[in-house]
Amino acid sequence: MAIKRVDDFDLNNKRVFIRVDFNVPQDENLNVTDDTRLKAALPTIKHVISHGGKAILASHLGKPKGQINPKYSLKPIVKFLSELLGFSVPMANDCIGDEVKKLVDNLKPGDLIVLENLRFHIGEEKNDPQFAKALAELCDIYINDAFGAAHRAHASIVGITQFVKDVGAGFLLANENKYLSKLMSHPERPFLVILGGVKVSDKIGVIEKLLEVADIFLVGGAMATTFLKAMGYNVGKSKYEEDKIDVAKNILEKAKEKNKPFILPTDVIVTDDLKSNFKKCVHINEIPDDMMVVDIGEETKKIFCYEITSTKTIFWNGPMGLFENPAFQEGTFAIAKCIANLNNVVSVVGGGDSAAAVRKSGYAEYFTHVSTGGGATLEFLEGIPLPGIKALDRY
Ligand code: 3PG
Repeated sequence: MAIKRVDDFDLNNKRVFIRVDFNVPQDENLNVTDDTRLKAALPTIKHVISHGGKAILASHLGKPKGQINPKYSLKPIVKFLSELLGFSVPMANDCIGDEVKKLVDNLKPGDLIVLENLRFHIGEEKNDPQFAKALAELCDIYINDAFGAAHRAHASIVGITQFVKDVGAGFLLANENKYLSKLMSHPERPFLVILGGVKVSDKIGVIEKLLEVADIFLVGGAMATTFLKAMGYNVGKSKYEEDKIDVAKNILEKAKEKNKPFILPTDVIVTDDLKSNFKKCVHINEIPDDMMVVDIGEETKKIFCYEITSTKTIFWNGPMGLFENPAFQEGTFAIAKCIANLNNVVSVVGGGDSAAAVRKSGYAEYFTHVSTGGGATLEFLEGIPLPGIKALDRY
């Protein structure tokens, strides 16, 4: 079977429901602090309206759990979308019901409307058929461009496809599918994986899968301290996962059995205060009892970059340190720069934090693909079929 893409349909004068993932980070005043997901949805939105479609955009935001909550309204997001599109985008007060139907009926070819947060209705997360049908009644064609939510079997992702004849993927979802599939099925070798971030526990499944597919591993971030602890090093006051030491040992053992280098830092940046600028670089044998690891060290940056320059395919998940504090971002940014300088390499970044870190480094545009998914990307790479993609696979 195959999946149709938005440009496979005659959109003229059709009501096109576009499921987007506008679940974006906001500050305390509800301003959007990272508009990547909004920008990533633009090609599909622009394609639909420029081909005479009547675009109906729907998304979730946060976890309002079936309750109307102004904190999770899509209104502030629509303000940012309007700025990106260069015109004022109208918004409905709900996502189903007579009033919404009337607004949709009044749309002209090339018009656009955004519906209110899908998760204000309990039926969304429950994949309730009644709710899915009510959404489906708004459209002639259903397009899913919400890759970030494709691992959720919710009404606007899965249920709705039962009630609409023409369903397909937007450009964003189709691209994610293409790059991530290629990574796991035909990577050019050597295939190097960079792992970081806080927890090993969130990523056990994907690490095990990558151990089968990839050739070499570089590990940084807080995750590295759990591995260092498993190898018997003192990690001072660093965060590590005590209950995942055995898992870490097991992963190290598997990598050894498979003869795949699993490279940990040889030196690290430590501090005694996460909010301060105080830091020093120490060998992993010399992590002081009263300090914690916050970044990879100088020698490690060089070793990692040396390994990176001799690969053909790179997948990066998880920052190398606490990049949110400028004092501890050097390791992450050095790795981003090293990858950005390469030619003829496929480089893919996935997972919320890593993508944010790469964008903050200023090198994102030099990567082949920066995934918009967090959990969705990890589940995809783990080999778990995503319900949102499966639901489109019918032609
Ligand atoms: C995400 O941000 O990963 C997606 O939008 C899914 O959100 P959820 O974890 O609230 O389902």
